[in-house]
Amino acid sequence: MDTSSTLSHTETWCLLALVGASINILVNTVQGDGAPLVASIALGGISFATAFSLIRWLGPVFLKAGLKGKDMAKPRRPEMYEPETMGAVCAVVYLLALIVFIPFAFYKDIVAATSGGGNRDVVLEPQQAENGRYLHRFPHGKLASYLSGLLSLQSIIILGIGDDLLDIRWRHKVLIPAFGSIPMLIVYFVDFGVTHVVVPLPLQPYLGDSVDLGWLYYTYMAAVAIFCPNSINMLAGINGIEVAQSLVIAALLLFNDALYLAPITPYPHPATDSHLFSIYFLLPFVGVSAALLYHNWYPSKVFVGDTYCYLAGMVFAVVGILGHFSKTLLLLFAPQIFNFLYSIPQLFKLIPCPRHRLPRFNAATGLLEASVTEWTVPPSQFIATALHLLHYLHLVHITKNKDGQIFESTNLTILNLWLVWMGPMKENRLAWHMVAVQTVCGALGLFVRHRLALLVFHHDNRAFGIS
Ligand code: UD1
Ligand code: MG
Repeated sequence: MDTSSTLSHTETWCLLALVGASINILVNTVQGDGAPLVASIALGGISFATAFSLIRWLGPVFLKAGLKGKDMAKPRRPEMYEPETMGAVCAVVYLLALIVFIPFAFYKDIVAATSGGGNRDVVLEPQQAENGRYLHRFPHGKLASYLSGLLSLQSIIILGIGDDLLDIRWRHKVLIPAFGSIPMLIVYFVDFGVTHVVVPLPLQPYLGDSVDLGWLYYTYMAAVAIFCPNSINMLAGINGIEVAQSLVIAALLLFNDALYLAPITPYPHPATDSHLFSIYFLLPFVGVSAALLYHNWYPSKVFVGDTYCYLAGMVFAVVGILGHFSKTLLLLFAPQIFNFLYSIPQLFKLIPCPRHRLPRFNAATGLLEASVTEWTVPPSQFIATALHLLHYLHLVHITKNKDGQIFESTNLTILNLWLVWMGPMKENRLAWHMVAVQTVCGALGLFVRHRLALLVFHHDNRAFGIS
């Protein structure tokens, strides 16, 4: 029997126990007061177990359908194909978890707003009955935001699967997330419409306390939604890296969200709801991502596909934009921002950009080395000078022929740069290093956000941060 697509006995029992415990918690929350946070944790557990099993079972089905890729950082073997696009499985499980969660998120409101909802001790005044009871108090705005986030995620998943099936060219696919962000931005426009931003202290004498950016704010939000998915897709190519970076960002966002919850920040606080919203989107995402990481970590059994990278980026864009903390979000994307800026010369073809820029596997040593782009035509004087300067600064490695002309330069990605700095290393070691970089940068980002930002803003928006 092919064991690569079945669950072992231990796995089956562990997953069943997890699902059983999670269902038990869910049932308890319904009988209690519908505690949404607890329900969300339980749904995260169920999402993990479901995604874990489906990824294992569906591997051969994906291979048969032609959704497969070659692991380029492994010794050459004929049976080297692995199922690709496994992010699509996670995406479907994740969407279902978000949909199932809706009644839990609005449990109290639904009960209070309907006659037969179980909350029988609500005494209805005649006037309330005429006004449709408490229905006018139902948080339609919140539900609209939640559903718009869901719609944007659905759009990006459809487009992501399209990309994985058709292998769309880079210059076309960078705009895919722009289409995915439309539902969220439209609902933001009709429902929320806040386009004011707080002005830093040094600029307040000139601009006032806050400034209305108008349509520019929508451009900014669209840019965030385009950037997050693409930047995760660009920091890719070694086993586990796409999922691991997403999990680190999600964990740091959850930590940041927790800072706004009671008892850390006393309730009621204006930002609590936005951060709860973020938690509800992130917990099931962490569940499916952890299941995927198990299969995608070195040595990987499956690839995540662009669908996963887009989904992850869009989840962050949705929580950042609808939760009103997109600047904090960008602080957590420091490695991705660096990777993008560093890649620009290749993205804009100033330097040749091969189809794949992932590090090169050296079969003799079993280690990864910085991959190179070859200059079939020698670079122009300007580019050559720039490359020499970058080489001198240890930001790129160039190789010259005997005439002194550059004929190879390392590909401009953070993974290759790390290998230029640290020397060749094993694939999993490089992945761990990137996890560490992401964690350190993110933790520093949050420190800047909550402590150093007080230098340029009146106060941190958390109660205990007010100075
Ligand atoms: C992006 C990068 C490209 C990088 C690729 C790796 C840019 C502009 N594009 O392209 O440079 O090479 O991601 O994902 O920065 N693969 C592995 N091992 C892994 C993961 C992927 O070998 O751990 C290979 C597999 O052959 C897999 C393929 O990469 O089939 C997936 O590439 P794809 O996601 O289609 O590349 P892009 O996102 O277009
Ligand atoms: Mg990709």
